[in-house]
Amino acid sequence: MSNTIQKNLNYKKYVVSSKLQYFKLHSSKTEKTFAEEISSSLNHDSKFINPKFFYDKKGSDLFEKICSLPEYYLTRTEISILRKFQPELSSYIDENFRLVELGSGTSVKTRLILDVLTQLHDSVDYFPIDISEILTESSEELLKNYAGLHITGIIDTYEDGLEFLKNFDKKKNLIIFLGSSFGNFSPNDGFEFLQKINSTMKSGDLFLIGLDLIKDKQILESAYDDSQGVTAKFNLNILSRINAELDADFNLKNFSHLAIYNEEKQRIEMYLKSLVNQSVVVSKSNLLLNFKKDELIHTEHSHKYKLSQIHELLDSAGFQIKHTWLDDNKYFSLTLVSIKSDP
Ligand SMILES: C[S@@+](CC[C@H](N)C(=O)[O-])C[C@H]1O[C@@H](n2cnc3c(N)ncnc32)[C@H](O)[C@@H]1O
Repeated sequence: MSNTIQKNLNYKKYVVSSKLQYFKLHSSKTEKTFAEEISSSLNHDSKFINPKFFYDKKGSDLFEKICSLPEYYLTRTEISILRKFQPELSSYIDENFRLVELGSGTSVKTRLILDVLTQLHDSVDYFPIDISEILTESSEELLKNYAGLHITGIIDTYEDGLEFLKNFDKKKNLIIFLGSSFGNFSPNDGFEFLQKINSTMKSGDLFLIGLDLIKDKQILESAYDDSQGVTAKFNLNILSRINAELDADFNLKNFSHLAIYNEEKQRIEMYLKSLVNQSVVVSKSNLLLNFKKDELIHTEHSHKYKLSQIHELLDSAGFQIKHTWLDDNKYFSLTLVSIKSDP
């Protein structure tokens, strides 16, 4: 059996109404993946946790709070660029495009694009892909405001969501990937992921990517270590999630949040630091972990880019750059591309 067919069998389809359906992996599969990945990533000399596991219900709620913190310039800056982009979008969209969003979260920024698409067409298809169940809540909220909207959501990883999309139908797609979430990939994985997006796209499809730009170290570090401690709670919540879902006994008081900007690697590095020598059991991953005082668990990278690097990266992954929009401070960028064979 091919992987794609196998994967489709793993999904359960939920039809909420004639305007909202979503596909979700069976929960036993999700828990198994979580237990297995934690089992290998914490059983290392350099321990790490994949940032996709931040987003249980509590993590998604905390991320929403982060977005409105004064230090977290990313969200408000990208929204200001989307406002500049809005009047120009219709010149790139010549027919009834479907909107596909990777890591849609609360779909707040999505509204700026839906405002334009729903002005152009009576009926608009939206295809959010997000690992978090927040997708269902966000979709129901959107339907309250956009009468002509039809939503098919995939609660799964970006990669598997794209695979699903590839086999879905022949309609043209505008794929958006906002919030600089791409910056969480390592350079190699990111390049492969861009190639995956490129190979999912057909002639005429468009891809819009929001990426954060290099700026003053102080501004960057404050954005990931805010004065109210919300980002610290977000980072530590991943341990609460492991406690709850994998039957573990992390004592959160024995860990602290750390975010530093690595200038050479052009990235914020986020860690959980063990404050004491300690042992932790993760029952469902069959782990007994020993931490030394000051030992780090790496939880997230957030890469920052020069504009020239963004263009080189997209070009080498097979994209044709249509346009890049920036804010007045040149803090953040939005770049629209097609595949190279397109005019
Ligand atoms: C940093 S938030 C960005 C949310 C929103 N796009 C924005 O710009 O504000 C990342 C979103 O992607 C989702 N996510 C993170 N890793 C993922 C993965 N590997 N596959 C699918 N979704 C993922 C999270 O649940 C979250 O909603």
